[in-house]
Amino acid sequence: MNNDKAQSLCPRPVRESISEMVEIVLPNDANPLNALLGGRLMHWIDLAGAMAAHRHSRTYVVTASIDHMDFLVPVRVGDFVVLRSSVNRVYHTSMEVGVKVWVEDYRSQENRHVSSAYLTFVAIDATGNKVPVPPVVPETEDERRRYEDAAHRREIRRKESVRRNEVRS
Ligand SMILES: CC(C)(COP(=O)(O)OP(=O)(O)OC[C@H]1O[C@@H](n2cnc3c(N)ncnc32)[C@H](O)[C@@H]1OP(=O)(O)O)[C@@H](O)C(=O)NCCC(=O)NCCS
Repeated sequence: MNNDKAQSLCPRPVRESISEMVEIVLPNDANPLNALLGGRLMHWIDLAGAMAAHRHSRTYVVTASIDHMDFLVPVRVGDFVVLRSSVNRVYHTSMEVGVKVWVEDYRSQENRHVSSAYLTFVAIDATGNKVPVPPVVPETEDERRRYEDAAHRREIRRKESVRRNEVRS
């Protein structure tokens, strides 16, 4: 392995991937009752997740999967939507990113949890070939908990994938 390649696979702390995105909900993001569309929120979650994946891997990435999502509270036109993302755990060419979403009412300064999502991104080069991702180093208690939990989620994904393939065949 040459020096550049070895350097690019040096472990990186979770904090280098932490990203935040804020959107103001406009009428075009909402249904006729002025509530944010679920699909729009999923799009923002994908973007916020990709930012963390890019920052950690320093490569191009594609979304391989998004786990189950719940929408806990409605979000209205005019609200601020705050999305925070970071890399939870890295495997070989893939990484799990967590995205947590809040709605911020700037009048009352109240924040409510809207959704949490776990996405898997795969790192690719400019020609679309998969490339290895540097390991991630959890430093805080929360980061270590997310790192451990990510392994359980990967196992669940693996079992579900086996089950889906059995159903298909
Ligand atoms: C995701 C993709 C790159 C996987 O390619 P592949 O050749 O089937 O992948 P492999 O089986 O070799 O797996 C590569 C890695 O992806 C992971 N992976 C593949 N499919 C996955 C899935 N559905 N969920 C989570 N991880 C997945 C594997 O676990 C593996 O991780 P590792 O290297 O860290 O162990 C490929 O399916 C793809 O390009 N899909 C389209 C992506 C895209 O266009 N996304 C935008 C959505 S429209």
